[in-house]
Amino acid sequence: MNIYLIGFMGTGKTSVGRQLAKEKEWNFIDLDELIELKQQRRIVDIFAQEGEPYFRKIEKKFLRQVCSQKKFVVACGGGVVLDPDNIKLMKKTGILICLCAAGEVILKRVSTSASRPILNVAKPRERIELLLKMRAPYYIQADKTIDTSKLSIKEAVTKIIKIVSSGAVSRKR
Ligand code: S3P
Repeated sequence: MNIYLIGFMGTGKTSVGRQLAKEKEWNFIDLDELIELKQQRRIVDIFAQEGEPYFRKIEKKFLRQVCSQKKFVVACGGGVVLDPDNIKLMKKTGILICLCAAGEVILKRVSTSASRPILNVAKPRERIELLLKMRAPYYIQADKTIDTSKLSIKEAVTKIIKIVSSGAVSRKR
């Protein structure tokens, strides 16, 4: 079984995932980092050079590889949920925890980096709100959702460990 962290950019998937893996003594993988490593270029450059559909295709391919592993905490890219096959596969092979946060918190957290092509627009705040609305039906498919707006990394990790060890969402697997 794996733990998949899904949710919008800036909700803490990577930092929480890394710490969660440490505490559980599981492996950690950040899907975006894996893609950058395998492609030998940054996500922004993949978007610019090949376009989003190509990125989604390789994202799906690498997710499939990761899903064949066990005892991995996987921090997924924010858009991984847009493909229903991805959701199906993650559900089959693990628990899906969605991290969410308020729009203004997301904006603050992502404003320090220009590495997110989806938010490299003139009005990122509006874009965030629009995408949050559009993606809500996808993120809601997670087994559990945790709002990280006011949580430290440690607090979010503790919540996830509680959920996972309660067995409430893993019984079906
Ligand atoms: C994306 C989120 C990014 C990355 C890519 C597209 C999205 O990942 O996969 O820029 O569509 O939401 P993070 O959520 O890890 O920033």
